[in-house]
Amino acid sequence: MSFKTDLAASIRSIPDYPKPGIIFRDITTLLGDAVAFRQAVDELVKPYVGQGVEKIAGIEARGFILGGALAHQLSAGFVPIRKKGKLPHETVRMAYTLEYGTDEMEMHVDALRPGEKVILTDDLIATGGTAEGAVKLLRQLGAEIVSACFVIDLPDLGGRRKLEALGVEVRTLVA
Ligand code: PRP
Ligand code: HPA
Repeated sequence: MSFKTDLAASIRSIPDYPKPGIIFRDITTLLGDAVAFRQAVDELVKPYVGQGVEKIAGIEARGFILGGALAHQLSAGFVPIRKKGKLPHETVRMAYTLEYGTDEMEMHVDALRPGEKVILTDDLIATGGTAEGAVKLLRQLGAEIVSACFVIDLPDLGGRRKLEALGVEVRTLVA
């Protein structure tokens, strides 16, 4: 018999952060809980076992924590998608839309070989602007995006639909 913890209950909600009226879903409490962290990684990984996944692409910053664990479990490589100006080698850059304004993200030009099977990951999908930029960047490098996975979906903000419209399968654990 296996006992499951309540992942939603392990995520802390902070009212009025970073601005009044916003409830921030904070996964540091999930990450700090050994049972919840293992369960979240196990559940995220499960559908991809045996799918020939070659790389996990994690979005800065919390996607690095999950992505490292997923890569280990799937015996895949890990590649970072970083905010601009952080990567030391030659990069490709993509603008993406935030709730207010835009920013740019980067990957190393040689992070992937064309045709590599990649899973994109992050802690949370909200408007989907960040993940959309990541999908475009990965495709620019020739990745075959197998799927995108997140611990949290904020469904009212439409991010899942945005990625699905790009032809990307989306998997999430908690809405
Ligand atoms: C958060 C989160 C996602 C993104 C989701 O990161 O970790 O990357 O926002 O929002 P979206 O779906 O509306 O694009 P944030 O931009 O706060 O950066 P951080 O990880 O550096 O804190
Ligand atoms: N938590 C973490 N990242 C976020 C959130 C949140 O509630 N909303 C938009 N990005």
